[in-house]
This record gives sequence, structure tokens and C-alpha cells, in this order.
Amino acid sequence: MTKIVILTGAGISAESGMGTFRDKGGLWSQVRLEDVATPEGFARDPGRVQAFYNMRRVAAKAARPNAAHRALALLQRDWPGDVVIVTQNVDALHEAGGARDVIHMHGELARALCGNCGHRWDAPDEMAAGECCPACDAPAARPDVVWFGEMPYHMDRIYGHLAEATVFVAIGTSGQVYPAAAFVQEAAAAGAHTVELNLEPSAVVSDFAETRLGKASEVVPAWVAEMLRR
Ligand code: OAD
Repeated sequence: MTKIVILTGAGISAESGMGTFRDKGGLWSQVRLEDVATPEGFARDPGRVQAFYNMRRVAAKAARPNAAHRALALLQRDWPGDVVIVTQNVDALHEAGGARDVIHMHGELARALCGNCGHRWDAPDEMAAGECCPACDAPAARPDVVWFGEMPYHMDRIYGHLAEATVFVAIGTSGQVYPAAAFVQEAAAAGAHTVELNLEPSAVVSDFAETRLGKASEVVPAWVAEMLRR
């Protein structure tokens, strides 16, 4: 049985209107990531951070999956082996496109986390500074997203999958954020064939055996169709 491990980034959701981080005009050119995506930024100004993720939550709710999300769900359904989707994205577009068991290594906009006791719950559309945790009542509610300086989620599971991968594909990610950017090396060391599908070559493009450039809505369905014809 062959196992396909897929890593996705903001590029797969770009055509759904979610915007990317580092492309021209991307999120990190509009706001300082130190202000909205670090524990220190949250400690300094929790209202600003909550407002940023409230805005992202509204955008994610309005977004619809595109042909790339749907193609990966089809691959999961029809591939005779395992297809594991690991995403850096905090939207739920893979699930909306029909994918299952998606591993959200950078958390989810739709969830809230207590910074005091670690309890998690479904986030309301709008979160505010000083909101209380429903479990411990501490005023420590925050979006359940991973910030810079924090450990991404589910790393043991992800490394387990990478060690068993026969194919590893990275889609729509710039390869600038670790540990995700090093997954290709892990998979290659385990003997996987490695493929990058991206609009532009990533920072780690030379680590991949194969690269296909283009929009996710075009290159991903084409690659999936090819895999399913094998
Ligand atoms: P980036 O914004 O760094 O990279 C987006 C990638 O998508 C780039 O390589 C683009 O070329 C590509 N891209 C843009 N439009 C595309 C399209 N239509 N089809 C295919 N590819 C396209 O986003 P990520 O790599 O996901 O983390 O960023 C990684 C992490 O950095 C994010 O999860 C987030 C961010 O800071 C946290 O917030 C912790």
C-alpha cells in the first residue's frame, strides 16, 4: 500500500479569496506579524489580535473550496492507499471540499483555546479581549491558532506519516516557515517521491524531485487525475 502525504499552505486557498501571507500585497505586508501572530503581540494588545482573527474568521466563513481542495478530497476517496492531508491553513476549506481527518498543524480559526488551562471549544464569530474560558473562567480565551514562537500541533503524528510516505507533495506554500518547510527532507529521507505544486518556486524547491508551477485550481486537479490514472 502506498501512502501519499500532502502539505498545503495559503496558496491552495488563494483562489477561494483567503489571501496569502508573503505574496505581493499579502497579509504580512498589511499587518506586522509580530503584532498579530506572536504571544508577545497578544500580551501587548489582545483586542488588536482578536480583531485580526475575527476578520480572518469572517473571510474564512465566506470562502468556498476551489477545484484544488475538491481534487484532494477525490484523491482521498479513490486512491487505494492512505492519503494524509496536513495543512498550515487555519481555514476549513479542505473539510468543506470533502476531505477528512485533516491535520491542522497551525490550528483552526473556528476553534478557541484557553491560554490558562488549555481547554478548547468552538469559537464564536467574534472574540473579544479578556473573554473568559468556559471551563476555568480565566479571562484567557484566544484563537486556537499557532503563533510564531509556539510549537505547531500534532508533530509526532505528522513525522510518523512522513516516515511512511511513498509520495510527498507540497502545495501552495512558500517554504519559509519551519518545521513545515523541512517536511520534504524528512519524506525524501524515508524514500518518498517528492513533488512541489506552486505558483512560484518555493524557498526549498531544490529539495523536491519534481516541480509543477501554476495555479492550484489547475495544477492540483491535473496532478490528482494523473495519480488516479496510474
Ligand atoms: P505564504 O504566503 O508564505 O506562501 C504562499 C505560497 O502560495 C507562495 O509560494 C505562492 O507562490 C503560492 N501561491 C499563491 N497563489 C497561489 C495559487 N493560486 N495557486 C498555487 N499557489 C499559489 O503562505 P504559507 O507558505 O502557507 O503561519 O505560509 C506558512 C505560514 O506562514 C502560515 O501557515 C502562517 C504564516 O505566517 C502562522 O500564522 C503560524
